[in-house]
Amino acid sequence: MNAIVRPVRRLAGTIGVPGDKSVSHRAALLGALADGPTEVQGFLEGEDCLATLRAVAALGAEVARKGPGHFVIQGVGMEGMTEPDDVVDCGNAGTMARLLVGVLAGQPFVTVLTGDESLRRRPMARVMEPLTRMGARVLGRKGGARLPLAIAGKRPLEPIRHVSAVASAQVKSSILLAGLSASGPVTVVEPTRSRDHTERMLAAFGGDVQVEGETVTVVPGRRLTGRLCRVPGDISSAAFFLVAGALSPDGAVTVRNVGVNPTRTGVVDVLEAMGARIEVTSRDGDGEPIADLRVGPGPLRGTEVGGTLVPRGIDEMPILAVAAACAEGPTLVRDAAELRVKESDRIRSLASELAKMGVVIEERPDGFRVPGRQARAGTPFRGARVSSWGDHRLAMALVVAGLFADGPTLVEGVDCIATSYPDFVATCHALAGEEAVEVVA
Ligand code: S3P
Repeated sequence: MNAIVRPVRRLAGTIGVPGDKSVSHRAALLGALADGPTEVQGFLEGEDCLATLRAVAALGAEVARKGPGHFVIQGVGMEGMTEPDDVVDCGNAGTMARLLVGVLAGQPFVTVLTGDESLRRRPMARVMEPLTRMGARVLGRKGGARLPLAIAGKRPLEPIRHVSAVASAQVKSSILLAGLSASGPVTVVEPTRSRDHTERMLAAFGGDVQVEGETVTVVPGRRLTGRLCRVPGDISSAAFFLVAGALSPDGAVTVRNVGVNPTRTGVVDVLEAMGARIEVTSRDGDGEPIADLRVGPGPLRGTEVGGTLVPRGIDEMPILAVAAACAEGPTLVRDAAELRVKESDRIRSLASELAKMGVVIEERPDGFRVPGRQARAGTPFRGARVSSWGDHRLAMALVVAGLFADGPTLVEGVDCIATSYPDFVATCHALAGEEAVEVVA
């Protein structure tokens, strides 16, 4: 499917965004590992998280859909999972693959995992190496570094202290989940702190998790108990419309009930550093902080993004590049080599596609430089034919760029948007009118 995007240059209104992808994956996995039922409200019914629900069902947990985003998972307990009778397909979902192998490392049976073309290219060694040290056995392509792979778990696993070379919540979470089946404490040390949903949710389910700066330890032994999980709106989905609101000359966009966990709000900090006016109205959250975010129009200026800000906004770099293209003066993103191993190599894919729209981004090994525009110049985006590279976040960033271009834009391959934001086009319509985005075969 392709999207024809017509320039509207004005978006205004109030929207909600679907449930957080990271929290939804974790609710499914922890719900399955817990004793008793877990009720999940606001679960993201995108393809990635639905694949995780299918996986926990294949491992023996009963999953019932009660309504939109509303599921009940009957937990089987840490020792209750059973060997799946077929290959588990993780689709496009890196979070699912990495977290699931952590769970499976402690399950004494064999599971075979695969994924789509993009996921089969993505690195698994970063989790397989520590899990193998803990005693799990792995057989897979490139020595277990690429899907498909088979994992034979064991219980108990050996306790380890893992010093991770990358700030990755997927690596951290995978090892912590394996740690639940270890014979002693398991520690992960990160170079800078990544999103902490696993720590928060494990503690809420009754697990023993200790956090000290960049060091997280899980102490096994406590059972997990099923509970009510209310999933906040995904700030990574909200980001597309926060940027659209900031670029819209006389509109204002409010996104309600967004998760504003400080390990995820890099996009708000970067936009504020660029001069955007964002009003944050806190709401009652349960385990995760929640707020309404309102962004008004205003001139943006270029900025620098690096260090601890990068893991706090890693998934938002494609849409921040769109904002940076419209800002006055250059923007430099550094310390972000991880962008190269996402759903696409996001440094290459962004540079390639934005160049077709007239914005020439300079690629760096660990980031990119966006030139920005001259004072009072018009839109930097030329309407063009661009491709999503099968990457949902690149696809959505290109659609937003198209809304502010000087003519129609065709974005090829927008099917991938369904992995994380099935209602994305409908929300574009709500804010910009039906004619703004048309999906065609
Ligand atoms: C995620 C962690 C991040 C992020 C991904 C979701 C998670 O990946 O990019 O979209 O839910 O743990 P890394 O751990 O590879 O940085």
